[in-house]
Amino acid sequence: MEATTHPAELAVDLRNITKSFDGSAVPALAGIDLAVPYRQRLVLLGLSGSGKSTTLRLLNRLHDPSTGDLTVLGTDPLAMRGRQLRQFRQRVAFVFQHFNLVGRLSAIENVLAGGLGTLRGPRSGLLMYPNRMRLAALEQLDRVGLADYAFQRAGTLSGGQQQRVGIARALFQQPELLLADEPVASLDPESSRQVLDILQQVSEEDGLTVICSLHQVEVAIDWADRIVGLRGGQIVFDRDAGDVQPDDVALIYRAEESKAHTPEAPE
Ligand SMILES: Nc1ncnc2c1ncn2[C@@H]1O[C@H](COP(=O)(O)OP(=O)(O)O)[C@@H](O)[C@H]1O
Ligand SMILES: [Mg+2]
Repeated sequence: MEATTHPAELAVDLRNITKSFDGSAVPALAGIDLAVPYRQRLVLLGLSGSGKSTTLRLLNRLHDPSTGDLTVLGTDPLAMRGRQLRQFRQRVAFVFQHFNLVGRLSAIENVLAGGLGTLRGPRSGLLMYPNRMRLAALEQLDRVGLADYAFQRAGTLSGGQQQRVGIARALFQQPELLLADEPVASLDPESSRQVLDILQQVSEEDGLTVICSLHQVEVAIDWADRIVGLRGGQIVFDRDAGDVQPDDVALIYRAEESKAHTPEAPE
């Protein structure tokens, strides 16, 4: 059935997006159409090189598409410059596979860094932040179960704890859209489950739209509302998580056979 959602109700609307990187013969994205309603929890599922990161990076304008239109949170990010773009990026938070924390700074200082776009002037040290911001950062650390670790250096925390700081930093931005690029790929199964549970819980509490790349099928089916399968920069299936079939999943893998190079293992 055709989706008839009005664009104003969409958090993300990609229309026929292509992306070719300079010097690369094969396009990274080859005609992506993707409409994501607000409050949906969507997983991009695919092997390494299928275009998951490129898709996510278009959404906060870390990359520009080669062709096609994108609307994010009702705006056209491609038309933005300077302050407008910084404000837009406050509304779109990003959680990284390798956490991207500053290891020598405390957990709470890393969280506060998520709100830098809202402050003027350089900041160094906890006391430079207004008290209300410190309290708000502590509150986000509490939500991810790390209030007791607020003043510990991020580099000394476990991987799972570091990713929870990454989530707290993202939430501190009060985003409308949360992007997560393989957020559990560097974690053991137990930490992965904890991080995904937290992401699920906070996205529900805050009414967030979440787009997350994963490569474990079972985990994705468990976690998502909807799963979009990518292969070679194209969407090969797009279904409610509960309706994903083994044949769908096979499509993600089958495509690699037609390529000249050996398929890479998922990251
Ligand atoms: N900065 C870049 N420069 C050149 N090619 C890139 C760049 N980033 C990604 N690619 C290529 O684009 C394709 C899709 O990559 P990516 O989006 O990172 O896939 P995934 O996240 O699913 O592993 C791959 O062929 C990759 O080599
Ligand atoms: Mg990637």
